[in-house]
Amino acid sequence: MKLPAHVKLVDVGPRDGLQNEQQPVPAAIKIELVHRLQDAGLKNIEVTSFVSPKWVPQMADNAEVMAGIRRQPGVCYSVLTPNLQGFEASLDSRPDEIVVFGAASEAFSQRNINCSIAESIERFRPVVEAARARGIPVRGAMSCTVGCPYEGEIAPERVERLARLMKGIGVQHVGVADTIGVGTPLKVQRALEATLRHFDIDDISGHFHDTYGQALANTLASLEMGVWQFDTSVAGLGGCPYAKGATGNVATEDVVYLLHGLGIATGIDLDKLIDAGQFISDFLGRKSGSRAGTALLNKRAAS
Ligand code: HMG
Ligand code: MG
Repeated sequence: MKLPAHVKLVDVGPRDGLQNEQQPVPAAIKIELVHRLQDAGLKNIEVTSFVSPKWVPQMADNAEVMAGIRRQPGVCYSVLTPNLQGFEASLDSRPDEIVVFGAASEAFSQRNINCSIAESIERFRPVVEAARARGIPVRGAMSCTVGCPYEGEIAPERVERLARLMKGIGVQHVGVADTIGVGTPLKVQRALEATLRHFDIDDISGHFHDTYGQALANTLASLEMGVWQFDTSVAGLGGCPYAKGATGNVATEDVVYLLHGLGIATGIDLDKLIDAGQFISDFLGRKSGSRAGTALLNKRAAS
């Protein structure tokens, strides 16, 4: 088993982690979370989305959050932009990367972004063109690559089709997402293989929600294929308003613990990361979703 020597983690906590929170999270808290993540060594942070505030009220403070961040050189701050309106609104915030987001399932595409898969690609096309013309890298998130909350199991052929469509409009990197966390290692590997038909291994990342407790196993199964980029979320926060019942992303702390245990470098200080997880969990008034974070905090308290 030859695993990658280095792994890049994108902490999506401020965006995926908080977008589904019912209680308003002030911009100052989101900004502080981003600061704590970068202080812990995260070089990639998904900060917010430029989506309709009617659809996702929690992200309505997108520009304020982006403007409040004390930017650290070498850190990539990404934002989600579902259409040209969102992309144009994001420009004053100088995103380092934008993310268009589509789905392998028709029903999820309709519920999440109010259009079919084919229509979504036509909406993304000018966004990708405009971003690339400005030198802004484009990532494509591919939701429901193993299962859909409305359609059930998703065949790899549908992932292959979405990856082909994303490639066709100039998306440079795709994230293979298990939106509802139903995937198991072999199913996730089939989705990755389907994506590899159109994207190089260096242009693919894994984005695994942990609803069924499989996300770490799916991460390891991806590493075994040579995938070395993952979206994770501090304290295991997360969820999509249009994927009811799905829990958060795999916790960044748990993935860092796994990777360091495997001798894989991340550049992340696990202690500081755990403090960032505790900061946001305290604010939300709930226990952290990270098992490693909780165990190490208990150990700290006992010593
Ligand atoms: P729509 O209603 O079809 O859009 O929504 P529209 O173009 O018909 O416009 C309708 C209204 O929305 C207009 O306002 C527009 O101005 C406004 P009105 O005239 O009624 O006052 N509007 C916007 N406002 C702000 N920013 C925009 C924007 N676009 C239109 N960009 C739309 C289409 C995509 C906007 C809507 O469906 C939407 O905002 N969806 C967001 C869904 C979302 O954020 N989901 C969560 C993120 S994806 C995710 O979590 C999955 C991921 O983690 C991977 C995984 O786990 O699977 C990435
Ligand atoms: Mg997600």
